[in-house]
Amino acid sequence: MSRVRTAVLISGRGSNLKSLIQAARAPDYPAEIALVISNKEDAGGLQIAKDAGVSTKIISHKDYASREEFDRAIDAALRAANIALVAEAGFMRIHSEWFARAWAGKLLNIHPSLLPKFPGIHVHEQVLAAGETESGCTVHFLTPELDAGPIILQAKVAVLPGDTPEALAARVIVEEHKLYPEALKLVAEGKVRLAGGRANFV
Ligand code: GRF
Repeated sequence: MSRVRTAVLISGRGSNLKSLIQAARAPDYPAEIALVISNKEDAGGLQIAKDAGVSTKIISHKDYASREEFDRAIDAALRAANIALVAEAGFMRIHSEWFARAWAGKLLNIHPSLLPKFPGIHVHEQVLAAGETESGCTVHFLTPELDAGPIILQAKVAVLPGDTPEALAARVIVEEHKLYPEALKLVAEGKVRLAGGRANFV
């Protein structure tokens, strides 16, 4: 079976990266985690990748004058490694429109809310401040508009009385670790495709 060469883009601890690497160990998993790119040299996820024998590359946004130049460096690294799919997992840079268009339909992101509710940052704080009774996580196709791309899969959790942002984040991340491997599998198998601005299940 030829597996879809997938890169994971990170900026931090990489717990979603770890769940993707673990899922991709199954012989019948349709994607292979072939490259990890971090914009931060101290991202904890780099060690997770190294321990798993996955190639890593650091591309710092600070070395580029514009968003698009940074994205062009990422694009060059992805193409040099024959990457066909990109999964963003805690990658804390907003892409240029150019990059989002160049990788349209091949670019996934995970976000710790039930999008379209609560895009952006400080998500769990926003959920609690709004008095929500449920939250969750979303895997979506990344498009030029921040956290607004077509949704592939979502999972819900309850918001409990007395929740802190940390407690809620801990409940949500458990679901993220199941949802992202499932969503990447669907895209790698061609069972869901971006077309006409929608995620189409075939
Ligand atoms: C996750 O909550 C993800 O949804 C968000 O950033 C966090 C990354 O965590 N985009 P990790 O680095 O995968 O542990």
